[in-house]
Amino acid sequence: MRIDVVSIFPGYFDALELSLLGKAKDKGLIDLRVHDLRDHAHDKHRKVDDTPAGGGAGMVMKPEPWGEALDGILASAADEAPGADPDPLIIFPSPAGDVFNQRMARELAHESHLVFGCGRYEGIDHRVFDEYSARGRVRLVSIGDYVLNGGEVASIAMIEAIGRLVPGVVGNPLSLVEESHEEDGLLEYPSYTKPASWRDREVPPVLLGGNHAHIEKWRHEQRIERTRQVRPDLLPRELRGESRGRHAAD
Ligand code: ADE
Repeated sequence: MRIDVVSIFPGYFDALELSLLGKAKDKGLIDLRVHDLRDHAHDKHRKVDDTPAGGGAGMVMKPEPWGEALDGILASAADEAPGADPDPLIIFPSPAGDVFNQRMARELAHESHLVFGCGRYEGIDHRVFDEYSARGRVRLVSIGDYVLNGGEVASIAMIEAIGRLVPGVVGNPLSLVEESHEEDGLLEYPSYTKPASWRDREVPPVLLGGNHAHIEKWRHEQRIERTRQVRPDLLPRELRGESRGRHAAD
């Protein structure tokens, strides 16, 4: 999978050199290319923002540097796959976008080329969104109902969640199956390791008994209980144990 990122703070993405994603890059599973938006601002001060049309607080990112940066990425995608239709998906992280979740991560892990455009300040001139929506696929995506200073941290979160689902990135694919939000949408069961006793806190005896059927049953119950306590909104209807009519989600 090819991933391009455009940002005025390319250093943020050094974090993706670490751990599993770094290894995936080294193995050629993920081809991450980070671009400095200021390389596409040609005035003396490499200015990428200006005052909002119509007035108001803050600054808005100018369209020209974005146009040049994104045109360059799209042109290189076409050059590298002559004859093929590379059809990259451009994602602009934004609190005004569709909310990112595990299902979206799974969908996006099938893409061959993602481009993340990280806005700052009050956002990017909306004509950039209109221009690339007219020419291809563009999505605004939020990582949750809170406001960050820019799209960098949101992009890193999405790239990690998507990248680990790319085949070969996580060594044991079975470890992806039993996670929170996977399979049946329940949260993960609690995990323990050695020693069996730590500060008078014991590993639950069922996990030390060697009976796999009992362990499976216990883990499943833990997942349901944890989901009921922390995220009852995720519980499948048949496990909610309350009358249907009382749930807005129904
Ligand atoms: N940029 C600022 N806040 C954001 C959020 N919650 N999600 C994605 N991008 C953002």
